[in-house]
Amino acid sequence: MDVSVERKVDKSAVEIELLLAALSKCYGYDFSNYSYSTIHRRLKNRVSLEGVEWISDLIGRVVYEREFAFKIINDFSINVTSFFRDENFFSTIRKKVVPYLKTFPYFKIWHAGCATGEEVYSMAIILKEEGIYDRARLYATDINHAALLHARESIYSNSDINKAQKSYKNCGGKLSLEDYFYSRYNSSIVSPSLSSNVTFAAHNLVNDGVFGEMQLIICRNVMIYFNNELKRQVIKLFKSSLCPGGMLCTGNKESISGLTKDCEFNVFDNKAKIYKLDQERYEPSTYY
Ligand SMILES: C[S@@+](CC[C@H](N)C(=O)[O-])C[C@H]1O[C@@H](n2cnc3c(N)ncnc32)[C@H](O)[C@@H]1O
Repeated sequence: MDVSVERKVDKSAVEIELLLAALSKCYGYDFSNYSYSTIHRRLKNRVSLEGVEWISDLIGRVVYEREFAFKIINDFSINVTSFFRDENFFSTIRKKVVPYLKTFPYFKIWHAGCATGEEVYSMAIILKEEGIYDRARLYATDINHAALLHARESIYSNSDINKAQKSYKNCGGKLSLEDYFYSRYNSSIVSPSLSSNVTFAAHNLVNDGVFGEMQLIICRNVMIYFNNELKRQVIKLFKSSLCPGGMLCTGNKESISGLTKDCEFNVFDNKAKIYKLDQERYEPSTYY
């Protein structure tokens, strides 16, 4: 073997593969099917924050320091969110999805990748104003424990509420947004009448199972960070978690077309990215 010949390999890719293997083996978090560019960018940022030279300089700490490993896991989960994010989406929920939910005496909604909770409380407000909150049970899940802690506390800054006021009104809001919060120490706390039917829980879309039989699943701005293989796997999980004719919502820059066999989901509203599970082709859950 000629030891002077160096193989041409992408060394960053090797370092990333080793670091992701350490996270998966030591802590059970598998990011191997996340978009490579996101993982690369976030790790480069962590390298600069820690003042080290290489991504591989982080691996020992990932293996031996649990807290540090979770810092990296949180680096990979981007928690950007806001109340009534995407006005067209929430208007469509009010105008076209609420009539469907009203056909059920009792229904379940799953917010997968709920971040700090603003999306689920926006939905809860719409359900309240349309008179069907009492029939609803909202499950909101995420992998990021810090984000879930914030969501469970349900305390938001007054400026977040003020900023969302216009979007709330544009989505058909009937009151003033602050009516759903009470004020303490310059913060806004979600009123218990809005949080009583909401449950926050840890759930990893990569390797956790089916989440009950839902009428509606909302997974917005989450699959955008996944490669196509993982998107297909997660869509299959959603299909198995929906009731016949149930609906799946994605973010407005996402689409499930080409990722699922034709006819399993029909487009319900193309602009709002809402899909309806084909009632005729429904098969009981076979996923797990
Ligand atoms: C950009 S936020 C989207 C929040 C909200 N759905 C919205 O659109 O405003 C993406 C969320 O997905 C979560 N996430 C990423 N990977 C996940 C996974 N494998 N399982 C569950 N949640 C995940 C992140 O922790 C983050 O909170």
